[in-house]
Amino acid sequence: MGDHAGAPAGLVVAGAINVDLVVAADRLPGPGETVVGAGMQHHGGGKGANAAVAGARAGAAVRLIGAVGTDDTGDGALRDLEVEGVDVGGVARIADEATGVALIVVDRHGENQIAVGAGANAAVDPGWVQRQLSDAVAGTGCVLVSTEIAGDAVVSAVRGAARAGVVCVLNPAPPIPAVLEVLDQRPVMTPNVGELIALVELLDGRTVKRESASAPAGRAQAAALAARLTKATASPVVVTLGADGALLVLPGRPPIHVPPGPAQVRDTTGAGDTFNGVLAAALATGAEIADAVRRATVAASLSVAHLGARAGMPRRAEIDEAVGAGRNVA
Ligand code: RIB
Repeated sequence: MGDHAGAPAGLVVAGAINVDLVVAADRLPGPGETVVGAGMQHHGGGKGANAAVAGARAGAAVRLIGAVGTDDTGDGALRDLEVEGVDVGGVARIADEATGVALIVVDRHGENQIAVGAGANAAVDPGWVQRQLSDAVAGTGCVLVSTEIAGDAVVSAVRGAARAGVVCVLNPAPPIPAVLEVLDQRPVMTPNVGELIALVELLDGRTVKRESASAPAGRAQAAALAARLTKATASPVVVTLGADGALLVLPGRPPIHVPPGPAQVRDTTGAGDTFNGVLAAALATGAEIADAVRRATVAASLSVAHLGARAGMPRRAEIDEAVGAGRNVA
């Protein structure tokens, strides 16, 4: 594994910044149905901003590229990020757009339902991304890109990382068609199973039927589809499996299953963002991919214990301790 003891390694994250309005209810509403929870909580959100916080707590020096509005919501979102030590110098303020908002219901099992009003995230400009990336790329060990922003901004970020010769992690959440344009840039892809199926459907123009989500059938299907994706990227694919941990698939090699750490599930919102932020923070230090996946899997397991996407994200010492305990080493 790389040097976790030296100066913080540089991580650049390009992705969405939201404010999450969260209601905890007994169960999720069906179509046309109303469910009632005790009250509404505001939390920092957005897959890019969440991953940036996870990376910063894991010890990386993080710069975030994205956009918010010039509204009070945007001011608050940036303040929250600064408190976490995230450099928000790469976040544009867009006067005509509202800051992104996510409406989230969390049920008693920690499952969620999310609707996002993208606002400024959909207006992130590819030229802005390119300029911010060129400014930040010296000293950067990894670029993490997620796809809740405009598709051409995603393309710009992945190509910029490849041009600079920096490892790029691409979290296809959601799996937008623009992802297909950058698979040849050799990003490390980090889909969950649903996203992986959607990507292979886009790639091959066929319908893929989902097998049982449970191991071993779900794991075997994930391994086969990830192997297909590695043929397009010639890079590792890491599939997040929720309560079953993660699967690391290297081109032409047998899959490696990484079991989850112990988890007390209160809210799974942001577990994927934690995984991606911690994975990218480890890769930024030069960590081996298998070690980075182990750290990320442990961190994601720790992250689900509290309500709110960022509330349970662990700090570096907690991750070190859990990894040291070897509780998720296959
Ligand atoms: O991944 C969780 C995030 O998705 C939430 O914070 C919400 O803002 C949506 O972007």
